[in-house]
Amino acid sequence: MIDMSAETMKNVPVHVSLIMDGNGRWAKERGQERVQGHFEGVESVHVCVQAAVKAGVKYLSIFAFSEENWNRPEAEVGSLMGLMVKAMATYMDELDREGVKFVVLGNRARLDDGLNRIIDSCMERTAHNDRLTFIIFLSYSGKWDILQAAKRMAVEILECPERRDEILDMDVNGFDRYLVTAGIPDPDLIVRTSGESRLSNYLLWQSAYTELLFVDTLWPDFREKDFNEALEAYAKRDRRYGKVK
Ligand code: IPE
Ligand code: IPE
Ligand code: MG
Repeated sequence: MIDMSAETMKNVPVHVSLIMDGNGRWAKERGQERVQGHFEGVESVHVCVQAAVKAGVKYLSIFAFSEENWNRPEAEVGSLMGLMVKAMATYMDELDREGVKFVVLGNRARLDDGLNRIIDSCMERTAHNDRLTFIIFLSYSGKWDILQAAKRMAVEILECPERRDEILDMDVNGFDRYLVTAGIPDPDLIVRTSGESRLSNYLLWQSAYTELLFVDTLWPDFREKDFNEALEAYAKRDRRYGKVK
């Protein structure tokens, strides 16, 4: 049952993005190891994907691991990557059955070969699905994304000098196609959990006009009700894009 107002159902965001934060604090509150928080957080991701499908959201993305998160203790990084492998094994059949296209974006060169192979096979397997695109940002940062886009543009100019003027005349929409999010609409709503009010180097370019929602709930406690409340909050926002209404 979707318990949402008509206003909310009319204004469902196309792309919802979640900055999952607070796993460590959730575990600490219970006297558990940080990894227990990450483990419980996987179920929050699972229910949010289901809630997004139910609500008719077309793109759901999650910030799972930032470029800066590589600086965490090796054991925690290893647990997070291990959880990623386990979650793909556990949920890929269900995602595919429900028509979910699975995508991983980020600096994949830093991931190990085994993980990259599993990601590729899940992406290929679900590539034809079109009910919901579920994107995991892994080893991602906004500055990295903008920099890799600029580098690719520079290389294109060097390799195709005849396209120099066309590339230099490009507008902001033209630049979009160099970002790893090429073809994906910018997020309409970014929700960050755990009471932190910052983007932490997430989708910097793509969030230019995104509605931001900061909630106190710790990520492992963020479930369907919280997701639907975020959609309710979004439906009440007035997006003006710099214009006068
Ligand atoms: C979010 O929870 C998960 C990742 C960033 C990988 P944290 O691990 O950041 O949890 P806190 O912020 O320390 O509570
Ligand atoms: C942001 O959380 C990154 C992810 C959710 C993957 P962090 O816990 O790493 O962010 P900071 O360090 O509090 O800014
Ligand atoms: Mg954190």
